[in-house]
Amino acid sequence: MNAVNRIGTKVRRLAGATVGIPPRQVDFQFDEDSPRYMYADNATASLFFAVLSGFFPPGEMFFVESVRHYRDRIADEKLKAQVSGFIGQEAIHSREHERLNAFLTARGLDTAPAERAVKAGLWLLSRLSHRQQLACTTFMEHFTAALAEQLLTDEAFRSQADPELLKLWEWHALEELEHKAVTYDVYNLVGNAWHQRVLSLPLVVASLTPPLLASWIWMMIREGSIKDWRDLSRGVSLLLGRKGFVTRILPHMPAFFTRRFHPDQHDTSSLEQEWREKLFGKEGEMLSLWRNPI
Ligand SMILES: [Fe+2]
Ligand SMILES: [Fe+2]
Repeated sequence: MNAVNRIGTKVRRLAGATVGIPPRQVDFQFDEDSPRYMYADNATASLFFAVLSGFFPPGEMFFVESVRHYRDRIADEKLKAQVSGFIGQEAIHSREHERLNAFLTARGLDTAPAERAVKAGLWLLSRLSHRQQLACTTFMEHFTAALAEQLLTDEAFRSQADPELLKLWEWHALEELEHKAVTYDVYNLVGNAWHQRVLSLPLVVASLTPPLLASWIWMMIREGSIKDWRDLSRGVSLLLGRKGFVTRILPHMPAFFTRRFHPDQHDTSSLEQEWREKLFGKEGEMLSLWRNPI
């Protein structure tokens, strides 16, 4: 069953598109000839991104559900349209990541354990109050937006990734930036509590870090790459070293915990415009994959 149906929504293209959050129907074609390791010919780092891909469908469903709890409280037409765009974008992200996960699994890079592991972590978060769940979602959306910005600005990272598989991540990153403020605006509407935002850090870290590490290690064991010391040390350094991909995201985190935080305080609009043009403009690299151009 595809993710659009699992999340239980029809894609509301028009509503989202009117406020700059268009759910783009894209169909990725995964090439059997693409390299087994999508990033830097390195198993350790590539499997990390495979785990992330496994995390996205259940994670994005959680994000959508945490907003849905409050959807009937939204009276403002603009925010309603933004929420529609957000739900539509996340539904399509989930669907395409499920397709990527099926492709990886068919190649022996099984993402199902990562999906099961993140579902367990998200189940713990789903025991919290609806408002705390939404606070956790705003934090995870902040993290995702920082990840997206890093991906779209880190030329060194992108030059080492397989260009075809990278497109899926670039499209996803662009749309994460386009809708980065939506869950936060809904949270503001239902009552933004600073202590809940602060609490979301240990809650999310405690619930999702163990599944992340366990899935990553499990995939490396299955792949046999955990015994390859050179691959392991290079992969860890690429992600978590001084200038590593994940390391460079972390300085964006403290802003979320300031009392007057809002995602739009960090302006990414020109970066978004640049990538909209690059991917979906007249000569856009992804124009041929896009089924519902606006
Ligand atoms: Fe997403
Ligand atoms: Fe998102």
